[in-house]
This record gives sequence, structure tokens and C-alpha cells, in this order.
Amino acid sequence: MNQYIYGTHEEEHARLGLLNAMLNRKSLAAVAPAPRARILDAGSGPGQFTHVLAEAAGPSGFTLGIERSEQQLARACALTPALAEFREGDIAAALMPLREEEWGSFDIVHTRFLLEHLTNPLAAGRQMVRAAKPGTGRIVLEDDDHAILRVEPEPPGFPALWTAYQRAFDRLGNDPSIGRRLVTLLHEAGAKPTRATLLSWSGCAGDEEFSALARNLIEVVGTARDTIVTQGLLSAARFDAAIAALWNWTTEPDAALWYAISCAEGLAPPPG
Ligand SMILES: C[S@@+](CC[C@H](N)C(=O)[O-])C[C@H]1O[C@@H](n2cnc3c(N)ncnc32)[C@H](O)[C@@H]1O
Repeated sequence: MNQYIYGTHEEEHARLGLLNAMLNRKSLAAVAPAPRARILDAGSGPGQFTHVLAEAAGPSGFTLGIERSEQQLARACALTPALAEFREGDIAAALMPLREEEWGSFDIVHTRFLLEHLTNPLAAGRQMVRAAKPGTGRIVLEDDDHAILRVEPEPPGFPALWTAYQRAFDRLGNDPSIGRRLVTLLHEAGAKPTRATLLSWSGCAGDEEFSALARNLIEVVGTARDTIVTQGLLSAARFDAAIAALWNWTTEPDAALWYAISCAEGLAPPPG
């Protein structure tokens, strides 16, 4: 099994929670669930976005999160009021926690920031297509393409740091560029691709979201320090110097950051 690049301790959880609030508005607009929808959220993590989806589907809808980590599952199950159901499982495994009659029953099968962590994203894609209603079920995939990031004026050491961070994904069996492959993934998994978009976030010194985005960038790269250093991708000294330069950059009056994630949608194949 591949390793998960991010940490799981409480501070990490708080940072991801803050970022989630910023991401969820755009992700909700991209997924656009109808009232009463049946929704499956694969790799639901701490469950905040699963809850956002459940709220949009309303009390007559049904939203199910599937999550591999017991720790994340416990956080999701502790959310109140409980709007969604969560089950433990591996989305890429043959044995998924779905009952026989639940296969092919979901109007929307969604995932965000999961596929980049899998060694076999196509296996997960096939399971997701199989879970969607034949002919009408929508499969909506959101994920990173790390090459899209722009940080200006570029702090010293940043290009080498960002390259090392992406190579750390490779070394752990993760895919830092999966975003650009989402349409192909849908096609190969048997869905009919219908939409490809970018969801973007940007900010500059002096705007409200900038410090959250910049802090997230620095902390998320920080979680990969051990992997980067032990894999010889960058020395500890160069890593630490580049991180210090990034923190300095956040205080510059003209600091700016642009980022986007890929979103692709497809339709489940018709019955038969
Ligand atoms: C970065 S989090 C994203 C959580 C959530 N989708 C979101 O966007 O807020 C990725 C989650 O996928 C889970 N995960 C990783 N591999 C998985 C697998 N094979 N099956 C189910 N969940 C998995 C991880 O435990 C983690 O909670």
C-alpha cells in the first residue's frame, strides 16, 4: 500500500479544516447536487465537504462517505448534526462497504484530493463508475496538478523546493499531476467525459484569503520534509532555507499566489 503524504496530527487537522472552508464553496458549485440526490463521497477524510454535499441534497437525500483511515472516520462521525453516513473502506479495493443493491444507485459519485494518493487510481475510478446510476449517474473528480502553482516574486530556493515536494509524491507512490489526467481516467474507467474545468484560488498581500493560502502552502510542504530529506531530494539545510524564504515572502507587500485544481465530470454508461 502507498503511504499518505500528509500528517494526521491535530495541528494538521486544524489547518486542513480552515482550508476546507475556503475550498468547499467552489467545490459545491462544481458538484451542484440536486435536492434529494443520492451521493457517494470517496475518501471523505474529516467529512466537512461530505456534510456540505449532504446539506445540499437535503433531508430526502442520502450521502455516504467512504474513508480508509479510522482516525479521519472518527472525526467525520463526530460531526453534528449528523447529516451523512460514513463507512470505513478502501475505495480502490474489490471489497467496498456497499450493499449489493447500493451498487449503481448513486446520482453523484464524488472525490476530492484522493486520487493523487493512490497507486492505482484507475481501480478506484472503476469502482466509482460502478457505484453510479447507469446512464444518469455523474462521476465528479477533483484533484491537484501541482505544476499549476505560481508564487511571485519567487522566493530563493522555491523552484527546487516545489520540485522536491512533487518528487516526494512519486517516491511514495502518489501522483502529483493526476489533475491533468482526470478526463482520461474517467474514459478508461468506462464513464463518458462531459466536463473539464479548473477551480482556482489566488491571493496577494493585503487580501483576506492570502495568508490562509500562503500558510497552507508552507505547512503542506513542511509535512513532506522527512520524505524529501530522507529520499535525498533536497538537503535539510536547503529545505529549511527555502521554507524560511517562503515565510519572508509572505510579509512582502507584493507577494502573490495563484493555484488551481482540476475538476472533471463524466456520466456512467447506460445499462447493459
Ligand atoms: C486529502 S484527504 C481529502 C479529504 C476530503 N475528500 C476533502 O477533500 O476534504 C484524502 C483522504 O483520502 C483517504 N484515503 C486515502 N486512500 C484511500 C482509499 N484507498 N480509500 C478510501 N480513502 C482513502 C485518506 O485517509 C484521507 O482522509
